[in-house]
Amino acid sequence: MGILGAGVISRTYLADIKAFYQRLEIVACADIDVALAQALAQEFDIPKAYTVKELLNDAEVEIVINLTPPQFHVETNRAIIAAGKHLFSEKPFAPSLKETKEVLALAAEKGVKIGCAPDTFLASGLQSMRYYLDNQIIGKPFFVTANMTTFGVETWHPNPVAFYKKGSGPLFDMGPYYLSALVALLGPIETVMAFDATGKSTRHIYVGANAGTEIETEVPTHYSGILKLKTGVVVSFNLSFDIYKSNLPMFEIYGDGGTLAYPDP
Ligand SMILES: NC(=O)c1ccc[n+]([C@@H]2O[C@H](COP(=O)([O-])OP(=O)(O)OC[C@H]3O[C@@H](n4cnc5c(N)ncnc54)[C@H](O)[C@@H]3O)[C@@H](O)[C@H]2O)c1
Repeated sequence: MGILGAGVISRTYLADIKAFYQRLEIVACADIDVALAQALAQEFDIPKAYTVKELLNDAEVEIVINLTPPQFHVETNRAIIAAGKHLFSEKPFAPSLKETKEVLALAAEKGVKIGCAPDTFLASGLQSMRYYLDNQIIGKPFFVTANMTTFGVETWHPNPVAFYKKGSGPLFDMGPYYLSALVALLGPIETVMAFDATGKSTRHIYVGANAGTEIETEVPTHYSGILKLKTGVVVSFNLSFDIYKSNLPMFEIYGDGGTLAYPDP
């Protein structure tokens, strides 16, 4: 496997792969800034540190894990697939349905397999929720509330600019976790009604090399809405990078025989 994008989350991937998935062999890593790939390779003992092109040309690399910022996912996913590599992409897969379908079509044409984060619905927490629902522990679900309320990525991420550019923001950055959990547990969404808002369009960077500077957002930083699932279940949701403090539950499913409360999908 090869890693594309040697930033914050690459370190979590590599530490977890080393700890839990010894059958996966990471043979190379690459970044648009090769010095970052070299630093990652040294830190995690990866044999080859590459440019993007070198990674895609290496026949030893069968699968590429795409850990670039959201704005580059469509372009880099296309390049990975075009090079004949299987792909696991970080979220969001693409910022529009049209681009999603185009990338899927390219993968089908090239005969490569693709996967996309989040895969958290496969883990024990959400699988336990699945078990409780399948066994009707809370009876028949009729309502869900899903609330991702934070005060923004700039409070902890050293490179937060990308999270406020088109294709990111709370909907595309954090929405995938909440919506994937929802769909995995309760099935497809039929109707969406939603509004966006912006609590704070100028964001102060708190950490990293750019601490003390400010970012102008290109995207809304708050979304509120109602979804109706095909089963008739109604969902209220809020996804926000604008909320200092909240007592809203993160993820709760209400049934006619009880409530399932989940910490953070
Ligand atoms: N940081 C987290 O906690 C976290 C958690 C889960 C998922 N993710 C997702 O992982 C992805 C990366 O996040 P991150 O926090 O590691 O970002 P980051 O900014 O720390 O790292 C991204 C890296 O990609 C490189 N890059 C940019 N454009 C590139 C290109 N075209 N080709 C090759 N390399 C390129 C950058 O130089 C940088 O080193 C995002 O999609 C994010 O949503 C991040």
